[in-house]
Amino acid sequence: MSEADTESRAGRDEIWIEKYRPQTLDEIVGQETIVERLQSYVARDDLPHLMFSGEAGIGKSTAALAIARELYGEDWQEHFLELNASDQRGIDVVRERIKNFARSSFGGAKYRIIFLDEADALTSDAQSALRRTMEEFSNNVRFILSCNYSSQIIDPIQSRCAVFRFNPLSDEAVEEQIRIIAEEEDIEVADDGVDALIYAADGDMRRAINGLQAAAVTGDVVDEEAVYAITSTARPEEIHEMVTQALDGDFLAARSTLDDLLTNEGIAGGDVIDQLHRSVWEFDLDDEAAVTLLDRIGEADYRITEGANERIQLEALLASLALDD
Ligand SMILES: Nc1ncnc2c1ncn2[C@@H]1O[C@H](COP(=O)(O)OP(=O)(O)OP(=O)(O)O)[C@@H](O)[C@H]1O
Ligand SMILES: [Mg+2]
Repeated sequence: MSEADTESRAGRDEIWIEKYRPQTLDEIVGQETIVERLQSYVARDDLPHLMFSGEAGIGKSTAALAIARELYGEDWQEHFLELNASDQRGIDVVRERIKNFARSSFGGAKYRIIFLDEADALTSDAQSALRRTMEEFSNNVRFILSCNYSSQIIDPIQSRCAVFRFNPLSDEAVEEQIRIIAEEEDIEVADDGVDALIYAADGDMRRAINGLQAAAVTGDVVDEEAVYAITSTARPEEIHEMVTQALDGDFLAARSTLDDLLTNEGIAGGDVIDQLHRSVWEFDLDDEAAVTLLDRIGEADYRITEGANERIQLEALLASLALDD
């Protein structure tokens, strides 16, 4: 093993999602419109309260941290408080920490930033309390609220914030970042490996990078095989096969393919549903069949969310496709 090899291997102990977290707004990929607007706030040093909504792993926390770094430079940590709204100790603890942070004296900066993650975990009572806190300290504190679903946030808070909806990252954005990291880490990634990472990530950059790091552990080329093995993602072909079998009326074959995914490959039923949903338009179905399939997927998804048994729901879905013919 050469010296360079040893070095890059040692580097593999680090968590790449942190190692490669963009430090400036400029480095964030795939969220150009949002980044541009945020940059203009920073340039004017005039930040409104902000609300970032969107799915996991697409740059919300990263953007909040980058804003703080750009506004405050090296001392950013003195002016930035990160809290989790779903703190088990309760909203009172969260409010207490907000108050202490807002009241403590600080030199220079016009305001400090409080980044409140998972704001949608707050009950509406807790949100009303938060809204009062926001008002009370709006002189010297800017809030950045982060949530997966902005619909869970009460209107009085939304109307006090500039709301930014982060998009799931495009295939191109994920590919760009994967290739940058692979090059930096001196890892060979096959093209089908990149495609598999993009597919498994489904717009979530954190998942893509974690997948790359996990697949790279063996030191071999990161290819499709390696990616599907470690990300507990079914191959698109397997999903396709299962649906085709069901649509052909061969329920037993479809069920056995499903069993293979759930039992042998250890894929979660909910993930199979997600993958089915994503693949509907790739199956070459006529419109009517596609619509039926979507309808059944929606029903199974809802029931699973409500606590129904995943395997039973998936089998019922396949059975209904098999019967339909
Ligand atoms: N747009 C992006 N550009 C580059 N890297 C990204 C981007 N989004 C996410 N990442 C990578 O994924 C990691 C996680 O992203 P981040 O913490 O910003 O997710 P998030 O949107 O806050 O998700 P969550 O809802 O789970 O908190 C980052 O450390 C970074 O490595
Ligand atoms: Mg986050």
